[in-house]
Amino acid sequence: MDHFHIRDGVLHAEDLPLPAIAEAVGTPVYVYSRATLTRHARVFRDALGVLPDKRIAFAVKSNPNLAVLRVLAAEGYGADVVSVGEMERALAAGIPAEGIVFSGVGKTAAELARALEAGIGQFNLESEEEGLELAEIAVGLDKIAAVALRVNPDVDAGTHGKISTGKAENKFGVPFDRAAAIYARLASTPGLQVRGLAIHIGSQLSSLAPLEAAFTKIGGLMRAIRAGGHAVTHMDLGGGVGVPYKAGEVFPQPEDYAAMVARVTADWGVTLMFEPGRVITGNTGVLVTQVVRVKEGVGAPWVVVDAAMNDLVRPAMYDAWHDFEAVRPDGETFVANVVGPICESSDTFAMGRTIDRMKRGDLAVFRTAGAYGATMANTYNSRPLVPEVMVDGEKWAVVADRIEPATILAAERVPEWLA
Ligand code: LLP
Repeated sequence: MDHFHIRDGVLHAEDLPLPAIAEAVGTPVYVYSRATLTRHARVFRDALGVLPDKRIAFAVKSNPNLAVLRVLAAEGYGADVVSVGEMERALAAGIPAEGIVFSGVGKTAAELARALEAGIGQFNLESEEEGLELAEIAVGLDKIAAVALRVNPDVDAGTHGKISTGKAENKFGVPFDRAAAIYARLASTPGLQVRGLAIHIGSQLSSLAPLEAAFTKIGGLMRAIRAGGHAVTHMDLGGGVGVPYKAGEVFPQPEDYAAMVARVTADWGVTLMFEPGRVITGNTGVLVTQVVRVKEGVGAPWVVVDAAMNDLVRPAMYDAWHDFEAVRPDGETFVANVVGPICESSDTFAMGRTIDRMKRGDLAVFRTAGAYGATMANTYNSRPLVPEVMVDGEKWAVVADRIEPATILAAERVPEWLA
């Protein structure tokens, strides 16, 4: 459920008509609904209420906007970060250091040191090598690093190959059959407090079955590690719960997910940790764009919009579907191809799709763009970095400026020896 609705023939974000934002800020622009964000944060948190002891760390990568993080901080969320840049954002938004989990396969020594100094709650180690390096840095700083070992369970998440992370051939975690030995080695390494296991098998999962298989597998590993005499007090089950992108698609609900977790983990006796991203932020945003022109095509017309793959890369990168709707639909539809202005064919949002009839100058939105939207934007083709707006009832604010090409150009220089 979200708070983007047609009212008096015009698409609104909460109580605000989207044309008002387009006029004031220009397009393309991401628009987030605070009520939708808060609602999703609460629904997920409340669903997990059936579990005795849990912590939720929002996957910052899905939407790192400071205002978004601020809303989630107020809802009691921690943060799952994968760089010091994300960590600094989480701290700036008021998320306590203790609630921050540092994931990621390539944390640098400098990042590990900075995170130790900040006093974050947990490091999710991706390798034995990383653990030994962290231990050395921690000893040097006279700190103890609380860590979980990320295990690769070799389970097929059944999602797009580019966002699958839990198969043996993926770069993430330590191999399942080596995990117990690595756990034991790290547990006896000064500077580390090894407290559990972590897992994350992929993103945009449409079924709970692979998650259940992975959790069951890692639960067995937990028992084996305990049988070897080591403590396991924290189990991080990652993120990955998918959301519908097409009207009518049915996805597992947070309550179904929580019930499955409760069943699988009933006798684990640990603090459970979660790293949801998309399920919290996906539906909270739309990308507002304007039709530049409609160009005649073979078979179907090309609707050329002013948003491009640099603003929303998911269709180009993962063949992802985003519903595309007119801001002022008149009830008529046509079959069209929706593309951006960038000079490559991958800058295509939809082919041969039945959409609201549109003409030059019309406003439209890509739906479900709150997760992995603005955060993946870039400036390819020397385009601006797309701005972000948050709406709260009738109030709204620009929560990230449009970064103009001139600003980026100003950071470049021609060396003297080329002058
Ligand atoms: N935890 C870890 C360790 C992760 O790598 C991820 C996502 C998450 C949690 C959050 O997953 P979620 O709940 O959002 O599925 N750019 C892609 C998605 C990449 C996901 C990367 N990792 C997309 O646009 O579909």
